[in-house]
Amino acid sequence: MTEIFDRSIKIAPSILAADFAAFGAECAAVEGQGADWIHVDVMDGHFVPNITFGPATCAAIRPHIKGVMDVHLMIAPVDPYIEAFAKAGADVLTAHVEAGPHIHRTLQAIRGAGMRAGLALNPGTPAESALPLLDDIDLVCVMTVNPGFGGQSFIRSQVEKVAALRAAIGDRPVHIEIDGGVDPSTAPLVAAAGADVLVAGSAVFRGGSVDAPEAYGTNIAEIRAAAEAARG
Ligand code: DX5
Ligand code: ZN
Repeated sequence: MTEIFDRSIKIAPSILAADFAAFGAECAAVEGQGADWIHVDVMDGHFVPNITFGPATCAAIRPHIKGVMDVHLMIAPVDPYIEAFAKAGADVLTAHVEAGPHIHRTLQAIRGAGMRAGLALNPGTPAESALPLLDDIDLVCVMTVNPGFGGQSFIRSQVEKVAALRAAIGDRPVHIEIDGGVDPSTAPLVAAAGADVLVAGSAVFRGGSVDAPEAYGTNIAEIRAAAEAARG
């Protein structure tokens, strides 16, 4: 999906916290309640200690998403699967810098397959690892939990990394995405530091369902309002 680059706050619900038996309806429900992007967490039980799903599920979800499908790969290796995620309709495909020795090649291949390229950094990985790659990416994802599971606590030391990346990015059209433990109390910290895409799983899906999606709307609005207020 084509989208003009901007740094407005975008809320990206992670379907890791949705009803796995109803992904299509869950995506439509959160979009109907104000979600900007849909964040899709792919895990392989090898790069991270959990398994979710792969390109076939992404392809099945795609027709139910009107906006951006933001696919976060927590897999290693990445390269053999890039084409499959392009065919599945991913708009943004994010790979971890820790997932292999040739991240630059991976990012080139993602763009070459027609997708926007994202680069994710684990909490223990310094901002510096992204600096040589800033012209090769469309998004940098700062993990504010250790990847693998939803519902973990936000790691505050990552806020400094966000500020460092924001300064380094300058005028480049590169989004800063935050993933893990985002809620109305932590969103202001990263929004003030320069993040614009806020992934939230448990904080969006809690209290709602496909049949009663209003809670999703309230949750999204609260995270957005807290983030926008912190920007001033
Ligand atoms: C963690 C995933 C996240 C996760 C966020 O490995 O990448 O996208 O779903 O979940 P919450 O918002 O519950 O921390
Ligand atoms: Zn994620």
